[in-house]
Amino acid sequence: AILQGVPAPFAVPAGCFALTVTEVEHYTDSLFRFRLARPATFRFRSGEFVMIGLPNAEKPVFRAYSVASPSWDEELEFFSIKVADGPLTEHLQKIRPGDTVLMRRKATGTLVNDALLPGKRLWMFSTGTGIAPFASLIRDPETYEKFDEVILTHSCRTVAELRYGEELVQGLMEDPLVGELVSGHLRHYTSVTREPFARQGRITDLITSGKLFDDLGLPRMGPEEDRAMICGSMAMLRDTKALCLSHGLEEGANNKPAQFVVERAFVD
Ligand code: A2P
Repeated sequence: AILQGVPAPFAVPAGCFALTVTEVEHYTDSLFRFRLARPATFRFRSGEFVMIGLPNAEKPVFRAYSVASPSWDEELEFFSIKVADGPLTEHLQKIRPGDTVLMRRKATGTLVNDALLPGKRLWMFSTGTGIAPFASLIRDPETYEKFDEVILTHSCRTVAELRYGEELVQGLMEDPLVGELVSGHLRHYTSVTREPFARQGRITDLITSGKLFDDLGLPRMGPEEDRAMICGSMAMLRDTKALCLSHGLEEGANNKPAQFVVERAFVD
């Protein structure tokens, strides 16, 4: 007999995992995070990205998402924008626990510890959802084995957009397992550009004026001690990269580690 009313099972495209949503949290009209059950066979390096899609179409739309959870975690976390008419995010923003999300099997990316030479200090420059790869890296013990000081900067248009990062860092400091690892080594520096806030301005302006370094009591960036990772919009990447270069840092890659690396915050 025909099973009436039961939706036809969708086909999982080749090279994809079909993963169950375990948690969804909305922050603003335009930001949310979700967590997926992690397949036992999926391996990635903290800071890498994967391709995410939904099983609701014959030809699913895939977009790159940085994994925001560390490589040791049993689940996979993602931090996403919501775009009203975005081919993926207009649907993705409606997912609930128990739903299925598609994820391609291969992770890749340049915001990984392997792409940087060892150094004293690691700067993580992020705007908006560009904080996602750093949410992974600040929870990875390897980051603190390689760098004595880790500074995560996060700049957003509004105060509400900082909440994901604030809760993340606070949770990390209070965590009985990793708290000891990060305390005294990790610093979180936030700024807002379109509302009143304790620290205002684009990260590029805060670097140029030197306010960032003065606020933290640190010397200006330089090639001997400092390493950097950058993640944000195309314009933010271009301008922050130019500042890293003007401070004497050289761009690295997986096969040629150097002093800074760049990766775009993908979905737009
Ligand atoms: P602003 O409000 O001055 O545009 P977006 O959502 O557009 O990616 O912006 C996220 C944050 O990044 C905002 O605070 C925005 O500041 C900032 N931003 C945008 N363009 C740049 C840039 N070229 N360099 C540095 N920060 C930028």
